[in-house]
Order: sequence, then C-alpha cells, then structure tokens
Amino acid sequence: MPLELRPMAKEDAQEAAALSTASYENNPFRAILLPTGMSDGRIDRIVEKRQKAIDDPDKYVLKVVDTDNNDKMAGCAVWEYTEAMTNEDWERAKEEALSAYPEARMDILGDFLLKTQDSKSRIMGHSRWWELIALTTLPIYQRRGVGSMLMKWGTDKLEEMKVPGFIVSSDQGYGLYLKHCFKEIDRWETDLSRWPPGQGMYKNVFLTRMPLGYAASS
Ligand SMILES: CC(C)(COP(=O)(O)OP(=O)(O)OC[C@H]1O[C@@H](n2cnc3c(N)ncnc32)[C@H](O)[C@@H]1OP(=O)(O)O)[C@@H](O)C(=O)NCCC(=O)NCCS
Repeated sequence: MPLELRPMAKEDAQEAAALSTASYENNPFRAILLPTGMSDGRIDRIVEKRQKAIDDPDKYVLKVVDTDNNDKMAGCAVWEYTEAMTNEDWERAKEEALSAYPEARMDILGDFLLKTQDSKSRIMGHSRWWELIALTTLPIYQRRGVGSMLMKWGTDKLEEMKVPGFIVSSDQGYGLYLKHCFKEIDRWETDLSRWPPGQGMYKNVFLTRMPLGYAASS
C-alpha cells in the first residue's frame, strides 16, 4: 500500500467531500448537529469550499493517495496561513464563523464557535499563524500513517515559515496532534446527553505548537 502525498486538484473535491463525510460518520457531535445527516446541499457546499481553497494562495489543500489502488484518496488536509489580525478583524471573524453553518443547530454549535473564536483570539492575539483547518482519513486507511504524513507536511512548513501553529482538535485527532508536538492550551467540553439521543461528554481541544526559536514578537 504505497501512499503518496500530493496537492489536491479541483476535480478531486467531490472525492474529498465523500471522504470527509465517511470519516465523520460516527462522530457523536456531528450526529447531534446534523440529525438528518449530510444533505446534498451541504455536500455541494463542502465541494465548493474545497475548490475555492485550492485557488486561495494562503490555503494548502493536500491529499494522500494509495498508488496501489488507482490513486484512491486515503486522506486529505487543509492548512491555512493567516496574517496578524486587528481587534476589528477578530470581531468580523466571529460573525463570519457564526453564519457559516446555516443548516446546523446553532443552539448547540453557537457555543462551540464562540468558544473557538475566543480561544483563538486570546492565543494568537496579533501574531500571524498557521492552522490545520481540516484533516480526515478514510476509515479503511486509518491508523496506517496517513494523518501523520499530512501533519508532517504542515509542521515542516511551520518550522520553515517560523509561525505558531493552531489546531482545534476533535476527540479522534487529539493523540495524533500531541504526537506532532502540539500542546493543549484550552478546551471546550459539553455533555451530549443534554440533546437526546446524545450520550456522554464530548470535547474539542485547542492546541498550539511554536516553531523552534520562536519569540513572541516575531
Ligand atoms: C484523526 C485522524 C485524521 C487520524 O488519521 P490516521 O491516518 O488514522 O492517523 P495516523 O495513522 O497517522 O495516526 C498516527 C498516530 O496518531 C494517534 N492516533 C491516530 N488516530 C487515533 C485515534 N483514533 N485514537 C487515538 N490515537 C490516535 C496514534 O498515536 C497513532 O499512532 P499509532 O497508530 O502508531 O498508535 C482520523 O482518525 C480521522 O479522519 N478521524 C475523523 C475525522 C477527525 O476527527 N479529524 C480530525 C479533526 S481535528
């Protein structure tokens, strides 16, 4: 199963959206947020978002393919570079975050989005940063190093650019990010049983990694 990391092309966006949908299928938070599952409209929006990201010079959209299986996409990721933000930029980012998911249950997601923006603005302040904004491995390829290949690409770049890294981690990604030297800074936890048939505690963790020799003023 030789795996190769490549840039994603626009024609791959449909396969990437299917991959992402499959890899989040058993995510308990998603099941509550989108109780009727992923609509065709939602999938179309993911495809469109990926294609726009490919055209964006600050976003790096990558895939890992299985060259023994007709270059089937085993995993994909999006890394993003963001210039230092002013207080007004942070306010705008908060509003944009809250309006980005029109079909989701905002009574649940709103709290998480506000916490994410709040943590990010406190941690990054007026520094530029480098963020993993999406990472998924197709379930049949999980625990075979695909996620690590996409992480290594991003952390090499972080060291090259000398910018702090930021990740909002799901439960599943947490161990992988710790392995790649990200450190937990903050977390958002919720009790899913507040929204039947949800069960158990669910967390998202905010992590950072500073490049070697980084000084806060750089
Ligand atoms: C998180 C995810 C991308 C990991 O991808 P992957 O290709 O399986 O990762 P790797 O095989 O490179 O894993 C490397 C190491 O990370 C850790 N790790 C990966 N998945 C893990 C899991 N589910 N639970 C605990 N540790 C895990 C392990 O230490 C693993 O090493 P090991 O297999 O030798 O023990 C994948 O599980 C996934 O797509 N999950 C659903 C979507 C998601 O939650 N994405 C993260 C968004 S923040």
